[in-house]
Amino acid sequence: MLRKHPPISGSIPDFMHGADYNPDQWLHDPAVLEEDIRLMKLAGCNVMAVGIFAWAAMEPEEGQFEFDWLDRVLDRFAEEGLFAWLATPSGARPAWMSERYPEVLRIGANRVRNLHGHRHNHCYTSPVYREKTAILNAKLASRYARHPAVVGWHISNEYGGDCHCELCQEAFREWLQARYGTLDALNAAWWTSFWAHTYTSWSQIESPTPHGETMVHAHNLDWRRFVTDRTVDFCAHEIAVVRPFNPDLPVTTNMMDWYEGLDYRRFAGLLDVIAWDAYPTWHDAADDSRTAAWFAFNHDLFRSLKDKPFMLMESTPSLTNWQPVSKLKRPGMHRLSSLQAVAHGADTVQYFQWRKSRGSSEKLHGAVVDHVGHEHTRVFRDVAELGGALAALRDVVGTSTPARAAILTDWDNRWAVCDAQGPRNCGVHYEDAVLDHYRALWALGVPIDVIGSEEERDLGRYDLIVAPMLYLCRSETGARLERYVEAGGVLVSTYWSGIVDERDLCHLGGFPGPLRRTLGIWAEEMDALYDGETNSLVPLDGPNGAAEERKEPEGGRILLGRAYVSSELCELVHLEGAEALAAYGSDFYAGRPALTVNRLGAGKAYYLATRAEPAFYADFYGWLASALRLPRALDTALPDGVTAQVRTDGETDFVFVLNFSGRERIVPLDGRVYIDAETGEPLSGPALTLSANGSRVLRRASANG
Ligand code: GLA
Ligand code: ZN
Repeated sequence: MLRKHPPISGSIPDFMHGADYNPDQWLHDPAVLEEDIRLMKLAGCNVMAVGIFAWAAMEPEEGQFEFDWLDRVLDRFAEEGLFAWLATPSGARPAWMSERYPEVLRIGANRVRNLHGHRHNHCYTSPVYREKTAILNAKLASRYARHPAVVGWHISNEYGGDCHCELCQEAFREWLQARYGTLDALNAAWWTSFWAHTYTSWSQIESPTPHGETMVHAHNLDWRRFVTDRTVDFCAHEIAVVRPFNPDLPVTTNMMDWYEGLDYRRFAGLLDVIAWDAYPTWHDAADDSRTAAWFAFNHDLFRSLKDKPFMLMESTPSLTNWQPVSKLKRPGMHRLSSLQAVAHGADTVQYFQWRKSRGSSEKLHGAVVDHVGHEHTRVFRDVAELGGALAALRDVVGTSTPARAAILTDWDNRWAVCDAQGPRNCGVHYEDAVLDHYRALWALGVPIDVIGSEEERDLGRYDLIVAPMLYLCRSETGARLERYVEAGGVLVSTYWSGIVDERDLCHLGGFPGPLRRTLGIWAEEMDALYDGETNSLVPLDGPNGAAEERKEPEGGRILLGRAYVSSELCELVHLEGAEALAAYGSDFYAGRPALTVNRLGAGKAYYLATRAEPAFYADFYGWLASALRLPRALDTALPDGVTAQVRTDGETDFVFVLNFSGRERIVPLDGRVYIDAETGEPLSGPALTLSANGSRVLRRASANG
């Protein structure tokens, strides 16, 4: 049933391995290009991302274009068998443009216009910026879209932020008119009768700002949606210029880890492949598993955006220079971190940056080539070794992730739940809560997709959907999840779900609104706990079938082995068909349900009414994974800090065993026949030993292959 996806570019059937390359910083020294080419080949690199911030080198004065230097780079690449993602340089603009056309400079929420400087700070509405970008993109595309070294378009760089200039205000008003039609409809949707906020003319509407309006939550939500649409529109504008010159060239733009500012799902349809930039803070704790789980979640999110292999466009070959503490990667971590991306579906491992700049703010950021200028460095050796590993693993390219479990997260839900003034303004920790659920499944080696409620995706492909804190829940989403459960799916939902709709208006008639029938509960009240204050979640025995539920059919695991500490939010629910599996241990609501299950049609819906300690999620999902027979990459007890991930083409599985525990671990195998995917050697013995930061890739025949 599974198939192999074609490689991202027909020119490179292997993994892409390379870096952001800035030859425009070394034009004064032509020997650098030749030395770089020698080193790129030595490092096992085959692709560079070129031109990302090279606008000033490409168009030093308005209307004067200089491409000789880029001709030389790309021609030499082609001669040497190297390839390039060609960037549109709109991530940073030349000074002449800011000076001549101040409208391209962004205006902040404080309504002050930026001076020239930095990057990623243009007005995406400005007709001048759009025109200048279109002119340059067309020049680039007409010259290089069919160049033999060019494998695709790297559109701009890390789009982000918002602009509050008058052009953007006007665009926002137009966007609102298109969405609501009439002011009456907008006033109703935004509930502006509150505090006399009713608008009587479109011109009264401004973007949210701390010295103006921030109290109308639907307004905040719509501004964020507008900012996404504006940015998508700008990206589409860039793509529309380059695409016609060679429709076969894939197009991407590089994204940031679960970036709050843009709903990346809205970009997926524009792009041929998803690319993102991962900068884990490795070694910030004795055990790297929480960091590893966060980045695993992100890899799964980015893979899921287009449901196919993605690009790791940037990662550091050693350290960054912008984290609070920028640590070196310990031995093994470069390979482990890179193979983690591959394990979750990356078909490229690329870095920022190839060569360290000599000056300015990123001169001390890690690079493949250090200021010393030669290849005899630890980092270079790590990179070259990874190049060798990726070459040996080329059969992995194009394989899929066979996920039958999914985490459901929506950007607008995240915006709404974090913006709401409610029971815990010191933090409801939505992202952490999502990670609690994800991490438990990750530790079990269960492949996971990260999905959105508005995607056109058949939910029936999942045995398990986990939707933590689905605070903003559209009626359609509720209905969809209800159908999913009725048809046999298992849903896990939590406290603070089904509270508002897409307009940020509360669901009337009882929470969790559109999920109430599916979950078989009514959530009457929400208690908030101070930091450090706890309750507990105590498993129930005996009556109403709970004991039966707690045991797997074949006598196996117990659902909950003990009482668990709970914190932050405690919802007080009534059973309306659901059964209680655990109850609160203290306070005036001791004994009231804290974990419930509802049977609906052929499926079940669990509800967790409070935020539990990590051990709860480990036990609950351990039980659920075996009760549902969720496929796991390795059917074995994985030691703490070790996970396994799988990619498959339906005939051969590639199992990545990854040790983030910070120490040596022995990993029992599951009795199937394995060979080392890099060396082809059969594995002997019932277990394998991984050193600290160790990683192995194994191959086996797929179960249904
Ligand atoms: C981002 C940018 C790069 C570079 C790196 C540094 O990801 O896209 O240009 O600044 O950060 O880590
Ligand atoms: Zn603007």
